[in-house]
Amino acid sequence: MGQKLTIATELTNKDLATEVAAILSKIDGIETVDWKNGAGEKGVLTSKVHPHIIVLDDASQYGSLEERIYRLREAYPSVTIFVASQTQQPQQIVQAMKAGAAEFFVHPIKQKQVEKAIEDAHAQLAQDGQIGKGRAFSFVSAKGGGGATVLATNIAIALKTKRSVALCDMSCQSGDSTVLLDLEPRTDMADVASYFHRLDAALLKDCMTHHGSGIELLAAPNRPERSEEIRPEHVARIIELLKEAYDLVLIDCASMYVDENEVESYRASEKIFIVTELSLPSLRNAVRLKRLITELQIPEPRVEFVINRYHKGSSLSIESAEETLKKKVFWLFPNDYVDVMHSINRGTPVVQMHPHSQFSTNITAFVERLLDPTSSKDFRGIRGMFGKAV
Ligand SMILES: Nc1ncnc2c1ncn2[C@@H]1O[C@H](COP(=O)(O)OP(=O)(O)OP(=O)(O)O)[C@@H](O)[C@H]1O
Ligand SMILES: [Mg+2]
Repeated sequence: MGQKLTIATELTNKDLATEVAAILSKIDGIETVDWKNGAGEKGVLTSKVHPHIIVLDDASQYGSLEERIYRLREAYPSVTIFVASQTQQPQQIVQAMKAGAAEFFVHPIKQKQVEKAIEDAHAQLAQDGQIGKGRAFSFVSAKGGGGATVLATNIAIALKTKRSVALCDMSCQSGDSTVLLDLEPRTDMADVASYFHRLDAALLKDCMTHHGSGIELLAAPNRPERSEEIRPEHVARIIELLKEAYDLVLIDCASMYVDENEVESYRASEKIFIVTELSLPSLRNAVRLKRLITELQIPEPRVEFVINRYHKGSSLSIESAEETLKKKVFWLFPNDYVDVMHSINRGTPVVQMHPHSQFSTNITAFVERLLDPTSSKDFRGIRGMFGKAV
């Protein structure tokens, strides 16, 4: 099953809006969202949807068509833009195409023309790896209680503003994500395993638990003893299907050890983040865990260390930690006892409850780095004296 394309329409002209809606309603494999009042152009923050395609008309109240296209392309760098208009003005068409529009539809709009344009956009997105090939990331703590669940949950929600996100709770013996998200799943991974012989992406999606933020959770077994029903081949297939159905898959793994199910999560992950604190016992465990993972033929560059509960003035420096780890630390997440505890006790993740806290802005910056690996690698979440990256 291919991933659905999300198409946002920003059509102020009522007749055009009706015309385009009628055409889109006859096309399979897409979902549409109606953007009102220039929502898209006010930037990603005002709209939770990150569309693959935007259809806009040439209404002038939000600025010239050219400017609007530039603004949208800046806010959504990989988006494809279609323009719909009631009039055929060659000059305007040329300007729109120059600004980066992929298609210009003039009333009366032909169904076939729109279908072809969507097919082309779909093919291009698939080629660019933007759809149909979700990215997976695993989080595992070097020591129990290191923070993998807190981090994976908050990161999942922060990512949701940009893409579709699934959180997969692989910490089968101690699945805490339902507590952090205040959810009571009706189905969990053991149920999915029991449907294995007829499992496809649609059935798997039915087994996910929806969270108010928009992320979907595949919960760990409600009864820990049922985790024995889950086999490595189940995990491999489940993650493969999650990657088909969602843009991003975050996997919250059980701490410290690598069991045969987790191996499958690691194999399917682009990066495996080992969460450690800045203390010698935790760092030593992190090194041991990395060795266990790389012994499974998982390439070393895919394993990264992140430090959680970082606070300035720690007796151990990052440099000496890196000597122990023999690798540069990928990211530092700040210690924020009050906000994290408050959020756990309320069942509302920090990024939702305290979006402007240091912890939440740090998580947002981490998400940006994940989505754009070419971004500056100097900044790792915390600034030291005079605003310099530490
Ligand atoms: N950045 C942080 N700042 C302050 N406290 C934190 C932070 N991250 C995690 N914690 C605290 O650590 C506790 C354990 O976190 P979490 O459950 O995410 O760890 P874990 O590695 O998933 O543990 P487990 O081994 O149980 O799976 C949380 O209850 C929270 O109180
Ligand atoms: Mg956990």
